[in-house]
Amino acid sequence: MPSRAARLRSTAKTPRPAGTAQSAGVIGLGYVGLPLLVEMARAGLRAVGFDVDPRRRREIASGQSPIEDIKSSDLGPLVASGALRVAEDWTALREADAVSICVPTPLRKSKEPDISFIHTAAETLAPHLRRGQLVILESTTYPGTTREIVLPILEATGLRCGRDFHLAFSPERVDPGNLVWPLTRIPKVIGGITPACTQRAAAFYGRIFETVHPVSSAEAAEMAKLLENTFRAVNIGLVNEFALACQRLGLDTWEVIRASATKPFGFMSFRPGPGIGGHCIPVDPQYLSWKMRLLNFTTRFIDLAEEVNAEMPRHVVQRLSMLLNDRGKALSRSRITVIGVAYKADVSDVRESPALDIIGLLLQAKAKVAYHDPFVSQIDVEGAALRSSPLTRALLRRSDAVIIITPHSDIAVREICAQAPLVFDTRGVTAGLDLPNVFRL
Ligand SMILES: NC(=O)c1ccc[n+]([C@@H]2O[C@H](COP(=O)([O-])OP(=O)(O)OC[C@H]3O[C@@H](n4cnc5c(N)ncnc54)[C@H](O)[C@@H]3O)[C@@H](O)[C@H]2O)c1
Repeated sequence: MPSRAARLRSTAKTPRPAGTAQSAGVIGLGYVGLPLLVEMARAGLRAVGFDVDPRRRREIASGQSPIEDIKSSDLGPLVASGALRVAEDWTALREADAVSICVPTPLRKSKEPDISFIHTAAETLAPHLRRGQLVILESTTYPGTTREIVLPILEATGLRCGRDFHLAFSPERVDPGNLVWPLTRIPKVIGGITPACTQRAAAFYGRIFETVHPVSSAEAAEMAKLLENTFRAVNIGLVNEFALACQRLGLDTWEVIRASATKPFGFMSFRPGPGIGGHCIPVDPQYLSWKMRLLNFTTRFIDLAEEVNAEMPRHVVQRLSMLLNDRGKALSRSRITVIGVAYKADVSDVRESPALDIIGLLLQAKAKVAYHDPFVSQIDVEGAALRSSPLTRALLRRSDAVIIITPHSDIAVREICAQAPLVFDTRGVTAGLDLPNVFRL
């Protein structure tokens, strides 16, 4: 009589070890999922992606990339050759030897984690889960999500993790717009539900990424990602506080940072700014904070950094108001042009962008607001829809003040400073330009 494990092996349709996987799937084709799908195809795997958004599916299936990091000229040939395809429904994921889940993990208004997207993705994947499959959660989340949320949903099918299928967490560390660190060069941290899960996931991602870094559990991998992003949030909070202190002391923040950065060890430069944005830095530490509250533990650094960073948009507007005041102008009767509304340079993502908070505050103060952003054609703030204005001399000259929030690479900073009567630079891109009409954070 063959053992139960042997019976299961013999009934598996395609029980291939993931290191020898021939096909791979991605659920959620956004800033994280689409680049991963492309790399899977480039690694010679039959890559199949699924997204709940039909427009996104159509766009990618026609070879058009919806994100800046993937050029349509790279995506198109992969689609045309059949190396990468977009599935119209979930059944296609059954074909994949490995499936990576890359769905959003936002915050609710109450600042609590919203893991409903992970929940839905796991629930919808479960009926298509088959023996021999590897499932990897990539979405940033609190420690315990893979084991406490995803695992029970997948095991409710009757399949057992570590035996019939494998499950791991591997945080995504892509930095959209970063040309120095392409996806496959960023080491991949991997933690499985069981040691066998870690091994399979490491073997699979070892085919796509230059370096894999296995850890002892899914929770360690989940926590590692939160440490990275909390590290950034806390240090940005610290340098923002320094910027406020420098202003009170009449010092140039940027000069101080440049001087500190000459220390060859023990110092890492962070830059102040108008606040923090994007789907990660303002959000991820809150996932940990929430989890730790459940354990009666207060994450004081996270909470303090959040407080300082969240105040920056208000500080920026107050400072602008004072600069206008010095020129005898009231903010309520001023025309303000905002340069850049994306949360960072050279991307079109406006999620959690401090520019939206700043524009909201300016509108509340009754200022007339225009914005220019070559990546973002329209935004909705305070119930008003604003469209990006062309950056013309006329626009700059008729503005009472220009505020630089997100300096995309092709923004002509010198020209702005030459034409606008007053420039408030929140990113330090005018450092070195000593002009009487230019002020920095
Ligand atoms: N954007 C980044 O720079 C970045 C970096 C590292 C990690 N992350 C993390 O990666 C995850 C994904 O972020 P993103 O920026 O790619 O988000 P995104 O919004 O760009 O993409 C997510 C995609 O998932 C789709 N989706 C939602 N629910 C789905 C479902 N049930 N089934 C199939 N598709 C579904 C959405 O339609 C969307 O296209 C998040 O947890 C985020 O924190 C993001």
